[in-house]
Amino acid sequence: MAESMQGLRRTCRCAEVTENDIGRKVTLMGWVAKCRNKGGIVFVDLRDRSGIMQIVTESEGADPRWGSLKPESAIAVVGTVQKRGGAVNPKLKTGTIEVIPEQLRVLSEAQTPPFLIQDGIDTREDIRLKYRYLDLRRPELQHKIMFRAHLVQLIREFLSGEGFLDIETPTLIKSTPEGARDYLVPSRVHPGSFYALPQSPQLLKQLLMCSGMDRYYQIARCYRDEDLRADRQPEFTQVDMELSFVDQDDVIDVNTRLLTYITEKLPAIYRELDFPEELARGVEKAHADLLENGISRMTWQDAMDDYGSDKPDLRFDTKIIDISDVVKDMGFGVFADTVKNGGYVRGLRLEGDGDMGRKQIDKLTEVARTYGAKGMAYIQLKSDGTQKCSFAKFVTEEETKAIIDAMGGKPGDLLVIISGTFKVVCAALGALRLKYGADKGYMNPCDFKFVWIVDFPLLEWSDEEGRYLAMHHPFTMPNEEDWKNIDTDPGHVRAQAYDIVLNGTEMGGGSIRIHMDDVQEKMFEVLGFTPERAQEQFGFLLTAFKYGVPPHAGLAYGLDRMAMLFSASDTIRDVIAFPKVKDASDLMMNAPDVVDSRQLEELSIKTIEKEQ
Ligand code: AMO
Repeated sequence: MAESMQGLRRTCRCAEVTENDIGRKVTLMGWVAKCRNKGGIVFVDLRDRSGIMQIVTESEGADPRWGSLKPESAIAVVGTVQKRGGAVNPKLKTGTIEVIPEQLRVLSEAQTPPFLIQDGIDTREDIRLKYRYLDLRRPELQHKIMFRAHLVQLIREFLSGEGFLDIETPTLIKSTPEGARDYLVPSRVHPGSFYALPQSPQLLKQLLMCSGMDRYYQIARCYRDEDLRADRQPEFTQVDMELSFVDQDDVIDVNTRLLTYITEKLPAIYRELDFPEELARGVEKAHADLLENGISRMTWQDAMDDYGSDKPDLRFDTKIIDISDVVKDMGFGVFADTVKNGGYVRGLRLEGDGDMGRKQIDKLTEVARTYGAKGMAYIQLKSDGTQKCSFAKFVTEEETKAIIDAMGGKPGDLLVIISGTFKVVCAALGALRLKYGADKGYMNPCDFKFVWIVDFPLLEWSDEEGRYLAMHHPFTMPNEEDWKNIDTDPGHVRAQAYDIVLNGTEMGGGSIRIHMDDVQEKMFEVLGFTPERAQEQFGFLLTAFKYGVPPHAGLAYGLDRMAMLFSASDTIRDVIAFPKVKDASDLMMNAPDVVDSRQLEELSIKTIEKEQ
């Protein structure tokens, strides 16, 4: 039977009670985390978001219901704080005190939950997501959600201090393709017409600059119908910003200071939320580094050449080595022909892997293959001084030595080599590098390495569409020096775009926007938009730009990714209260779901069965 809390007022949260309160009467409310009956004396761990308070009944005269409390029931307790009678619990903030109850109210009795509400459980994630509200009671997850709230608070504090205005933009907007598929919302009033949910507030924030808002930010919901990964959700949150009358250095400067501010404040939050001390120390170190050195910048080209990725993980040094020149005249056709055909031969020196077994090498080859490589060549430099070269039949001893020397190989190293197009070589070696880093334990989540990636290409060729696509979006300003080559060599025109990368994850990205009509028109032409189509899709923006548009630029962070990285979580699902799974469904609400035929009729929508 549920009881009301009438007449009771909670005095504080469970773990806010301290030794200073000994002798005081408190009223606590929370959930029964544990209930042990020891010879008539009942010990209850009462849990709320602040932590645990131990309630101990006295043997005589205690309410008999204490002995039969169901775990996870919501209860209210009125009692007196006292020094612990039994052993002190150093793991709890309240480990030296306890409460002797005078009154118990069972506010809501719980059924047996589908899994234990405690940290470190190995219950399958789909079950935990179905009962997400219970999973969120576990201190570990609860602390991550609380952490995210603190992080947002820090961001707001900093940005409003820098003169950014928090402005909301609509989420029922026009479909303006931005790279991913749109989520569409049918209109009842305009049968056959659809709103789109924003992939980002990109165009709206640019319009706010036209309005003279000068500096905008928003914690904005974004929706993208794309394939999901550990760091992607169909519905996610951006810390979105835009600034007027600025250049790339201004945007990078204010954001470097934002990250410096965040890393200054986080350690205290970690300690308050019982996050591992190693994390607090790691962020303190990162903060000291930011204060001393700022965040280094790396060009997109260097990132791809050296790390095979535009989001390099700089927590370990291993770099890609180009040996195209060394092998181009060798008898080994695979290498020589690749270079002749404009491809590359590059490799990695995997220190300490020289004695690797065949099976493990096969695993590396598999990784390379999944990233498009036809195979993986290798030279094993065993620690006993012997060596094994997978292409020995095709090269002389001198040629093998030349490769080993070019790659700096030493006994105990495994040299892996990939040949192919720039794209394939980068992808395969980038993946091998990360596997190596992970296997060697070089990717400690408590170690923080930031880098700005700059000078992205403006365009990327799409084989599928047979045309150039904007690498960032169609409003990104080209590099002024390169722009003159837009007709002759569009693939090598750089953009004024930048990404902030943390530990191998793209945490945010942005660009300087085009504010000149002639550049924008040309850009649309290169992207294959007719003037009519450009007008149809972006007419409102192009018109706005005719009335005095300030030069402007911006950036957006993935807030979920930021919270994931700064809380050393494995997935963004851990820092999202109600996340979706890989197929974009919500297991708790069972969404998406079929709707009533009347609702469809009102929207003038007929569904068709898709052939499987
Ligand atoms: P972009 O598309 O690079 O830029 O997105 C900015 C940041 O948003 C995060 N992000 C995601 N996070 C979770 N799930 C997803 N599906 C997802 N997609 C993106 C990433 C990314 O760096 N309007 C531009 C920004 C600008 O130019 O100002 C934009 O949206 O962390």
